[in-house]
Amino acid sequence: MALFEWKSEYSVGIEKFDRQHRLLVGYINELYEALLAGRGRRALAHVLNGLMVYTRTHFADEEEMMRRCGYPGYAEHKRKHEQITAHVRMLKNRFEQGEIDSPIEITNFLNDWLARHIMGTDKAYGPFLSEKAR
Ligand SMILES: [Fe+2]
Repeated sequence: MALFEWKSEYSVGIEKFDRQHRLLVGYINELYEALLAGRGRRALAHVLNGLMVYTRTHFADEEEMMRRCGYPGYAEHKRKHEQITAHVRMLKNRFEQGEIDSPIEITNFLNDWLARHIMGTDKAYGPFLSEKAR
């Protein structure tokens, strides 16, 4: 059962990116479920490895489209992606060093990513990119 439901208000208006953003909701649910089932550590390893790939591919896709469409907020958006990527790398390192053994910190980070980056920075490109991509 999904504990955290995708809502239409999360939509940035571009189907490809909504689909990719749903993966993040999937990771949040995976961590919640693992936490409840007492197998948080294994889920953490899986999610952190997934996020390393996700930040590379999903951010590259968004940046490519922003560049192609001449989005004026590109440079600032890219900087925010770099900050999130660095944060994921830091969390993964700390996890590997045994400094994180509960999914709560990662779940909070992902919730924050959804609430602030997707609902703010990403949503801001929606109208511009969907207009240009038409
Ligand atoms: Fe983004």
